[in-house]
Amino acid sequence: MDQRPIGVFDSGLGGLTCVRELEQRMPGESIIYFGDTGRVPYGSRSRETITRYAMQDAAFLRTFDLKALVVACGTVSTTALEELRRVHGDIPVMGVVEPSAAQAAALTRNGKIGLIATRASINTGAYERTIHARRPQAKILSAACPLFVPLVENGRTQPGDIVIETVAADYLRPLKEAGVDTLVLGCTHYPLLREVIAAYMGPGVRLVDSGAEVAHSIGQWLAEHDALAGEDAQPVRRWFVSDAVQGFYDLAPRFLGREITEQVEQVEIEQYL
Ligand code: DGL
Repeated sequence: MDQRPIGVFDSGLGGLTCVRELEQRMPGESIIYFGDTGRVPYGSRSRETITRYAMQDAAFLRTFDLKALVVACGTVSTTALEELRRVHGDIPVMGVVEPSAAQAAALTRNGKIGLIATRASINTGAYERTIHARRPQAKILSAACPLFVPLVENGRTQPGDIVIETVAADYLRPLKEAGVDTLVLGCTHYPLLREVIAAYMGPGVRLVDSGAEVAHSIGQWLAEHDALAGEDAQPVRRWFVSDAVQGFYDLAPRFLGREITEQVEQVEIEQYL
């Protein structure tokens, strides 16, 4: 049993889709979340910048005594996971690529897997490498979807919204036409578009939610290592952001599926590392 908190970070609010899953699966766990709301988006930045930001985010979270670190950001997971593990390898550091690639490789029937993510994530080829390691014959079709994150952050997520439906159709058409039967939502913002994406792709296509998959994996790891918080744990939540806290109170409920009732604090993230 280990009642220390799990640290979770993202470039902004998308990682809260992972926290939502953690809360549902493991309500007794304490979580410390950092969202880099002052520097989001990461997905259009260089590898060097993403890595520097990720190392600062992790350095801040490691000021707490954590039992695990969850990288709830597709962009950081594809770009900086090795570097994070090199420095923070004394605790498990789990990103979204391995769990969602494994799930996609297991789910596909026809071997055609679609991947949507930020441009930075797609450019690394990390999902392709990880899926091919498990399923060498898989055909992977990927699409960078740079407009999805700003649309999600502006609340354009509902079926029937002409803007998101038009953009989604434009990004997803080649994947649908290629006949993918499994689609990896390789960015933690995208679960908010699940309904729109599912409606466009049709009922035969299974969606893999990368935030949910990493939540599942960390739960398994903690159980296997006798490191769950235990039944009598008093779960703690602490929320940190790098921009004004009001934006987090306003927007976070869409991602988390509940109101933020705990205090949110602002961090000078550039001072870490
Ligand atoms: N949540 C980030 C990810 O999963 C997307 C936002 C960004 O570009 O920073 O890649």
